Amino acid sequence: MRSKISIIGAGMTGGTIAQRLAEKGYADIVLVDIIEGLPQGKALDILQSGPVIGSDSSIVGTNSYKETADSNIVIITSGVPRKPGMSRDDLVYTNMEIVKGVTENVVKYSPNCIIIMLTNPLDAMCQLALHVSKFPRSRVVGQSGILDTARFRTFLAMELNISVEDISAFILGGHGDTMVAIPRLTTVAGIPITELLPKEKIDRIVERTVKGGGEIVSLLKTGSAYYAPSAAVVQMVDAIVLDKKKILPCAAYLDGEYGIKGVFVGVPVKLGKNGIEQIIEVKLTPEESAALKKSAEAVRELVNIMKLG
Ligand code: APR
Repeated sequence: MRSKISIIGAGMTGGTIAQRLAEKGYADIVLVDIIEGLPQGKALDILQSGPVIGSDSSIVGTNSYKETADSNIVIITSGVPRKPGMSRDDLVYTNMEIVKGVTENVVKYSPNCIIIMLTNPLDAMCQLALHVSKFPRSRVVGQSGILDTARFRTFLAMELNISVEDISAFILGGHGDTMVAIPRLTTVAGIPITELLPKEKIDRIVERTVKGGGEIVSLLKTGSAYYAPSAAVVQMVDAIVLDKKKILPCAAYLDGEYGIKGVFVGVPVKLGKNGIEQIIEVKLTPEESAALKKSAEAVRELVNIMKLG
């Protein structure tokens, strides 16, 4: 039997995720948006690619939540994206109202689903969804680290002129300016990049990675990235639907791990059919640990703004 996956927000990210999932063929998809016609139109268009790509996935577009009932996974992309000059944090007031209402509806119709959050500011929106849903922390997970490490891997591969597949990157922390890239644990076929590139070059690449989303926003001018973010989400969905128990960097609610309690930050987790099945704790140097805690505090400040009580 195919899994049932609902995507809330049929904009650039939601629509692209729907397309990528339809190409996988292992799930039936429901696409929800408040704009009348938008999810219906995109769903029909993607559905009609089925005969060409060989996918029998059903794809329904709707403006109500009824059709989402009993989803295994719900992906939340509803909200406004950044405009040039904005940080992800600037979106908090607008997107918290949207994500709150969306989560209430998601939970009402799919009380056993796993929520994958995409809406920014990512870590704060995860916390809001956890609070509103009252789900166990294993069933609320945010997409951030796969995208950030993908950007890091892309830039490293360009610099080293090697396959992106050979690079395994390590980034921790919030999905924003305080993210913590760890070159010591970033490797090319097992060799740390600190042995392959001078520090200045690595620092420049880290800097470009941290600002990677903003670079795209300033080019697009009317929205933010969606091709790489949607690819990242699909890797998480793969891990859950296929119970791969894959170790992926994701936003997870920490309860003392890494010395951090009560906030979402990006850490390596084991993703499988139950959602976050384990938070992987890696031994950090004192400097790395301090940077991660600083990043967690930046997330906590944003969470405090929401006054979740
Ligand atoms: N319920 C359902 N859909 C909603 C709601 C709501 N309450 N409010 C807004 N939406 C829809 C919009 O109508 C729009 O179609 O969310 C969609 C968002 O799509 P885009 O504007 O294209 O934004 P996108 O680039 O997909 O980014 C969405 O993901 O990466 C993050 O920062 C990004 O927070 C942003 C989110």
